[in-house]
Amino acid sequence: MVMIRAAATAEEEILARYEERTGASRFRHEEARRYMPAGDTRAATFYSPYPTYMRAGDGAWLSDCDGNRYLDLLNNFTSLVHGHAQPDIVEYAADQLTRGTVFGTAAEPQVALAKLLVERVPSFEMLRFTNSGTEATMMMMRAARAYMGRDIIVKLDGGYHGSHDFVEVSVKADLDASLEPTAHLEGRGVPAAVLNAVMVAPFNDLPAMERLLNRHHERIAGIILEPMPNSGGMVPPAPGYLRGLRDLADTYDVLLLFDEIVTLRLSSGGYQAIADVRPDLTAVAKIIGGGFPVGAFGGRRAIMQLFDPLRDADALFHSGTFNGNNMTMTAGLESMRRLDETAIRRINRLGELLNDGINRIFKTLGIRAQCLGYGSLQQIQWTDEPLATLADARRASERAGKLRDLLHLELLNRGVYTSNRGMFSISTPMTEAEIDYALSALEGALALLKATMREVAPQLLRA
Ligand SMILES: Cc1ncc(COP(=O)(O)O)c(C=O)c1O
Repeated sequence: MVMIRAAATAEEEILARYEERTGASRFRHEEARRYMPAGDTRAATFYSPYPTYMRAGDGAWLSDCDGNRYLDLLNNFTSLVHGHAQPDIVEYAADQLTRGTVFGTAAEPQVALAKLLVERVPSFEMLRFTNSGTEATMMMMRAARAYMGRDIIVKLDGGYHGSHDFVEVSVKADLDASLEPTAHLEGRGVPAAVLNAVMVAPFNDLPAMERLLNRHHERIAGIILEPMPNSGGMVPPAPGYLRGLRDLADTYDVLLLFDEIVTLRLSSGGYQAIADVRPDLTAVAKIIGGGFPVGAFGGRRAIMQLFDPLRDADALFHSGTFNGNNMTMTAGLESMRRLDETAIRRINRLGELLNDGINRIFKTLGIRAQCLGYGSLQQIQWTDEPLATLADARRASERAGKLRDLLHLELLNRGVYTSNRGMFSISTPMTEAEIDYALSALEGALALLKATMREVAPQLLRA
């Protein structure tokens, strides 16, 4: 048996306990590093010293290959809204599996899921399926450019829409910007030419958006944003902001594009139904695939008809070997059917309970942080100041230094699985008992980390 060494600091104690509990994960990681860079295949799922290897999921719970159990508050980055191995979804998918996964031609499950989504999401008059959210935003932006005959899409400074070239711009908000951030390439390998077709504007700032549209609207096809930016930090839209964007888009004759890949789960019609603002195009993904890879984009009939191959030579090309495959469509249909108004209300209420509980813990422990979000999507923000732009959220997060990573590891030590960005999503198998479990883990972890806060982020502690 490995002995836990005498721990000098909270950080050492957290790491020592993590390594003590996850020997089998470390072993697998060592092997994985031989075949994949850092032993992983997805930037968002890697963390130091090595990721926990999960072996099985059941409802709201995961177990790792050392036999530890975790409450899953990540749900594959919000996509598993019914948790793991939901019995009815498993039954439909298993039945479909025996009858063929994909036929290379049209099949009925596509129509059923398309119909359900068109009936639910206000802006969907027609849609098309893809295999990921990345493809969905890529095609949605292409459709907007084609329809408007213009090249530029405006995105939020700090907005995330997947990993295709035209959204690998200003994903990290510009901390130097005062009022008007400028677009920057997010990483090497993205052609500089992309900057000819992307502009950025700060979130929650209608005057800045208007200045940009006023100057450049004749070259702008549309504005893309998440109505509540999730990886930007779940900063809510200011009252009137989304309505104001709709009005600006109409005034300056540009399209409004919502990325509801994460926010769709918040009501049966997504955040656009909550805000009562109808975009011209919308991209969705994650929950609509019932646990399988998926994306979809759609909106106004006149725009989506551009994809109709019967339109002579000017039809837009959109293909994908597994688009609308039977597994995704069948599991997705059952997932969405089960996510009715009652289910959504219930998980949103559980999310609000989590939010109240986390904010209460911060208050009790004298920590100047807050939990932000809406319903079943919640996020820790390392400041108690109000946040407006995504640069505000990034600044607070960076000032917290290694706290975020340590909290993540300590939550794993206490049987709660999240991402290291402090985001929580509720799934339908959860009850108040799971929320209490999460809160008690969070309270213990944050109490342990107070000493570290004093060292690395003293601004977080009340005098
Ligand atoms: C808002 C948003 N848009 C797009 C994407 C990309 O989706 P995918 O990972 O399915 O490509 C994500 C993924 O997390 C997302 O959160």
